[in-house]
Amino acid sequence: MPHLDQRLKVVAQQIRCVTHADIGSDHGHLLKALLASGRIQRGIAIENKRQPYENSRSTLTGFNADVRLADGLEGLDAGEADSLSICGMGGELIVRILDAHPDRVPATAIIQPNRRPERVREWALRTGYHLTHETTAQGHWRYIILRFERPKTTEQSGQVHPDPAYKGLDREAALLFGPHLLRHFSNDFAESLEQERRYLRSLPRLAADAVRRLEVIDRIL
Ligand SMILES: C[S@@+](CC[C@H](N)C(=O)[O-])C[C@H]1O[C@@H](n2cnc3c(N)ncnc32)[C@H](O)[C@@H]1O
Repeated sequence: MPHLDQRLKVVAQQIRCVTHADIGSDHGHLLKALLASGRIQRGIAIENKRQPYENSRSTLTGFNADVRLADGLEGLDAGEADSLSICGMGGELIVRILDAHPDRVPATAIIQPNRRPERVREWALRTGYHLTHETTAQGHWRYIILRFERPKTTEQSGQVHPDPAYKGLDREAALLFGPHLLRHFSNDFAESLEQERRYLRSLPRLAADAVRRLEVIDRIL
């Protein structure tokens, strides 16, 4: 796909539907690649800042895309998109965007948090979305790409059903490092944990969060 770094390529591979909304579209490259490759038929780009909004408009000129200047899901109606993506932001900000309008989050959400992915995994457990796919992409650093789906049974009954991805796993470790990644325990994954352990052990003092991560890493390695 054109103009995408490895991180956004992996995100794009998770998206195939009629209408897709990208929140925080910035340069607009993700939607352009999705439209150009036929993975989606219509795109909705949402930006809350003027210059990135103009950049998205310019990139998406001539494509079947709406570009909207709005704060997160303020720019999307309920049921308007089949899926959404939110990429390149911290987990806390992503969760704030999702929580602002829970009724507007489509049944499929592809999320690439730059930090604190556990906040997004916690959001999904709380709201009944299931984490169906989890992968990584190498770039400036190691990125996590999460795919969430709202099960049909939750849609029909409104009830939250436990996510089977977490079954039988150390819950704290799964939230921090990913239930699917933990279950598969690839060499890459083990190496990334080893690297983090070496780094944390080399620090003279650790904040509470880092102590918690180190304890969990020691437990699972
Ligand atoms: C670091 S960029 C990431 C751009 C692109 N998604 C990517 O992954 O390459 C984050 C973008 O999200 C936008 N953004 C942040 N908060 C937003 C919000 N509440 N609503 C819409 N856009 C937002 C910023 O203006 C910025 O353009």
